[in-house]
Amino acid sequence: MTKFHRTYTTKANFMLHGGDYNPDQWLDRTDILADDIKLMKFAHTNTFSVGIFAWAALEPEEGVYNFEWLDKIFDDIYGIGGRVILATPSGARPAWMSQKYPEVLRVNTARVKQLHGARHNHCFTSPIYREKTQKINRLLAERYGQHPALLMWHISNEYGGECHCHLCQEAFRNWLKEKYPDLKSLNHAWWGPFWSHTVTDWSQIESPSPIGENTVNGLNLDWRRFVTDQTIDFFENEIIPIKEVTPEIPVSTNFMADTHELIPFQALDYSKFAKHLDVISWDAYPAWHNNWESTADLAMRVGFIDDLYRSLKQQPFILMESTPSLVNWHQVNKAKRPGMHLLSSMQMVAHGSDSIMYFQWRKSRGSAEKFHGAVVDHDNSLDNRVFQEVAKLGGILEKISDVVGTNRPSDVAILYDWESNWALNDASGFGLKTKRYPQTLQTHYRTFWEMDIPVDVITKDQDFTSYKLLIVPMLYLVSEETISRLKTYVASGGTLVMTYISGIVNEHDLTYLGGWHKDLQEIFGMIPVETDTLYPNDRNAVNFNGKSYELKDYATVIQLNAAKTEAHYVQDFYANTPAVTSNVFQKGKTYYIGARLEDDFHREFYSGLINELAIKPAASVKHGKGVSVQVRQSPECDYIFIMNFTEEDQTVVLESAVKDMVTGEQLSGDVVLEKYQVRIVEKEKC
Ligand code: GLA
Ligand code: GLA
Repeated sequence: MTKFHRTYTTKANFMLHGGDYNPDQWLDRTDILADDIKLMKFAHTNTFSVGIFAWAALEPEEGVYNFEWLDKIFDDIYGIGGRVILATPSGARPAWMSQKYPEVLRVNTARVKQLHGARHNHCFTSPIYREKTQKINRLLAERYGQHPALLMWHISNEYGGECHCHLCQEAFRNWLKEKYPDLKSLNHAWWGPFWSHTVTDWSQIESPSPIGENTVNGLNLDWRRFVTDQTIDFFENEIIPIKEVTPEIPVSTNFMADTHELIPFQALDYSKFAKHLDVISWDAYPAWHNNWESTADLAMRVGFIDDLYRSLKQQPFILMESTPSLVNWHQVNKAKRPGMHLLSSMQMVAHGSDSIMYFQWRKSRGSAEKFHGAVVDHDNSLDNRVFQEVAKLGGILEKISDVVGTNRPSDVAILYDWESNWALNDASGFGLKTKRYPQTLQTHYRTFWEMDIPVDVITKDQDFTSYKLLIVPMLYLVSEETISRLKTYVASGGTLVMTYISGIVNEHDLTYLGGWHKDLQEIFGMIPVETDTLYPNDRNAVNFNGKSYELKDYATVIQLNAAKTEAHYVQDFYANTPAVTSNVFQKGKTYYIGARLEDDFHREFYSGLINELAIKPAASVKHGKGVSVQVRQSPECDYIFIMNFTEEDQTVVLESAVKDMVTGEQLSGDVVLEKYQVRIVEKEKC
């Protein structure tokens, strides 16, 4: 359970509102730059991320610098009471650099060296790129470190991707040498004798490639770990001068998510990266009003990922980018309908954001993102619908600044693990398209979201002991260390839920021998003896509490020891055998869900646990489907966000009197929320 204290992640005690500002695209239009400063006030914006892709403007020729334009931007923003989040420019580099130092260019998996172009594509090992990055970062820190507008550092942009050049190969081999004492242990971990893949010299090791080695699971897993570590190493190199010159200014880098299903960014293990950051920030681009799911379904997925990114540091996060209207890179780029911008932004705040920031402040006139939504459109008009919605939101953010720094205590945690997902996806087995680990976690999260019960989505090295209920779906890869921590958690009174395809391999992706790990056998009182994988159209069912629930994709055949059967299978060769089991272990209890079951099963199953463990929603507001109530709490007050994610009016019933933080009205009893309406109310605890 997170505490009630406030954590100001930046020095600001107000909600940050603003976004990426790219004046370097407009340096020949001083009229436009002057308009920007005027419009920023009208938009009720206060914070701007500057310089993200400005390297060519800052250092037009090697060693020739031009900071004057940025000096003026800093002063102008500060002049209207604004703040700057200053970016390091490593996300894109000037052409002169690629031309003069080709080692900064990436080599792809097929060992093809890339040409200069686009962005986010530097070699993360190149000593020259590291040196150049440090140099410009030091100059930025020295020049702006004492500027009163400087609020935070935005290191690079959306780190991702990988490089396979000879420098990276060497770095990978050195990383492996640190990890494994000798080749014998490496060969054991990678199960080398299989297909004669035993390595007899470190120099034989190459990163995975479609034209080379791509079947050794242990190698693939270690490569993914290396990519995370090398990216973090690059980041650490970037911040050396920054921490030296401006130790008091917090550092962040913007994390990402997949847009279609809002699953966490897959290529980097953010649970490791988070430890190197002062503040978590992320870029959220949900496809609102899409044609494949309801608004409420999408809102649930957004809630899940917000709860993950907030839980990475158990403190508020910064929404670094979002769009006020539409993006330009979906298949169809639909505008947010009136009201959706306010609603979707407030959901971010409700789940822990202390900001609403955009990409970008002003729409570019040319090149790749000229049709991406922005606060200021090509019309340069404050009468623009989008501009007006942004300004309205800004006014509201000013009224809810008391929320800044508050958190969301939770009795329930769901465990998400990047490494396990990599290993599971790389495993040839099960159903190749039906594994869907992050999406499976979302389905477990759904019941809690629908019941307004706060959830932390935590990672394996975080503390488990403060949660009444810990849910660990599909944890395919799990180390002995984590198993032992799970055991301690249950022994000391925790309730643990695990599912099919859990505890299969250790941290080297080597399967556990002897059925299942003996500690898991002990705490669950059963052994999963077979995992049956079904074709996508196959259906079976389980019988639970006298009702039948649909099953698809996966079913585990269970050998019962001390455990009790909670549900059994209805059909197939395992009909009438246990599908869901429970077991009392020392002071705690465990549940094993052997099959992939429909949402109604989760509703029924988790409602039982919620009652048994006396887990409560953070606010008592009665409502129908599609309304979400999320709460942030300070020692003095509960800040309650009541959000209508449906296209109809919804009546909610407030069980105690509260004050609307925006209108000042006292509210109680029945309140009607229009389509997409949100109300933010406060309830004093005294
Ligand atoms: C082929 C190969 C075997 C094995 C099996 C797996 O038959 O010869 O080595 O890979 O496929 O089905
Ligand atoms: C990412 C990038 C931005 C911009 C937006 C567009 O989040 O960080 O520079 O390209 O996408 O949605």
